[in-house]
Amino acid sequence: MTTIHELGAEQLRSRIAAELARARARTAGLTEAVDDADLLRQHSPIMSPLVWDLAHVGNQEELWLVRDVGGREPVRRDIDDLYDAFKQPRRDRPALPLLPPAEARAYLATVRDKVHDLLDRVPFTDRPLVADGFAFGMIVQHEQQHDETMLATHQLRVGPPALHAPDPPSPRVRVADEVLVPAGEFTMGTSTDPWALDNERPAHPVDLPAYVIDAAPVTNGRYREFIADGGYDDPRWWSEAGWAHRTKAGLAAPMHWRRDGDGWAYQRFGRWSPVRDDEPVVHVCWYEAQAYAAWAGKRLPTEAEWEKAARWDPATGRSRRFPWGDEEPTAEHANLGQRHLWPAPVGAYPAGASPLGVHQLIGDVWEWTSSPFRGHPGFAAFPYREYSEVFFGDDHRVLRGGSFGTDRAACRGTFRNWDYPIRRQIFSGFRCARDARPDESGR
Ligand code: AVJ
Ligand code: FE
Repeated sequence: MTTIHELGAEQLRSRIAAELARARARTAGLTEAVDDADLLRQHSPIMSPLVWDLAHVGNQEELWLVRDVGGREPVRRDIDDLYDAFKQPRRDRPALPLLPPAEARAYLATVRDKVHDLLDRVPFTDRPLVADGFAFGMIVQHEQQHDETMLATHQLRVGPPALHAPDPPSPRVRVADEVLVPAGEFTMGTSTDPWALDNERPAHPVDLPAYVIDAAPVTNGRYREFIADGGYDDPRWWSEAGWAHRTKAGLAAPMHWRRDGDGWAYQRFGRWSPVRDDEPVVHVCWYEAQAYAAWAGKRLPTEAEWEKAARWDPATGRSRRFPWGDEEPTAEHANLGQRHLWPAPVGAYPAGASPLGVHQLIGDVWEWTSSPFRGHPGFAAFPYREYSEVFFGDDHRVLRGGSFGTDRAACRGTFRNWDYPIRRQIFSGFRCARDARPDESGR
């Protein structure tokens, strides 16, 4: 697939239309899989009722495309406050006078009609909001991000299974344990990727000492060893805040796991099955990831270490858009886009490996890094402070790479996600890293 900035205006229009349609088909699938009562229900106090996400997606599309880009009259100004994520804390959303499912669907359809009308005539000028169709790309990504959030809500839902998908592919290669990344400068972030969001910008050099990174995400099998070794009961491995949280929350295994005879079972979208050892562990919080890494004699990678392992090409010295190159992900590269409902076993995506031989960086599980969420040097909020900037600081940790539930439109080597270190309802896993020993780094 051609990258956005290589497209002419007409091709760009049809690409945008296709991406909007793909996002909407996914939204429809996630919200038609359950009945109206289920859409209105809150499945967890940290999640919205699905019907809130649904109308919020339409409201953002109205705000940015219909009103801002298009300069058209509001469709429903009266509901702006209801669907403003900053005005309405998640726990309070079920009590709001939300649009009932049928009205929400009609609202989305009305907004989308106006967007198509706008898309037919909008000139893609140099105005930053419309150059390369940025605002449309932002709205496509926004819908796909909420689709992943809705998928996480589905995972918390109690009741008969509502979602179905084939199993991910089997392992095709054996993957090494670790990979050495040599010392030196690489380019982090991007100034040229047309639909990259503000927090991915600008491109800037980062010089790193040599380090070693896991060639694959930490698996359930490895994580089980940590549990069996009493990792959850040994404060040595935990940070002070992590231990306090593990104690208060009673953490003893990843979320959705339960003991099953001598082993473990996990619940995935309403079905229980024995834990599979060769899959990346998912539904762990940052504190659990950090404790595991300490137990393993390692640490979490910094965000820069993750990105260098994912993008740096030793042959050319340049940073790729994805580990495998600049081309958009296909089903051969990565487990993305909810094609499957859980992570693939390690070794399932040899075509997606980086030049250094690091596997499954994109897709499968979001990977916790040790880094707090901050702006890259030269960061400028665009087009609104509330996308990224208001979250900068020590409260949030960065996750990279995307999960099986992340669409390719909202995933690339520079894409940054963030959350509180206690969160584990998201599709979060991790890999470990460590400093290179002098005998390894060749210095
Ligand atoms: C980037 C996933 C943290 O869901 O809170 C959605 C994306 N921003 N609506 C989130 C987002 C505004 C955001 N994350
Ligand atoms: Fe949103």
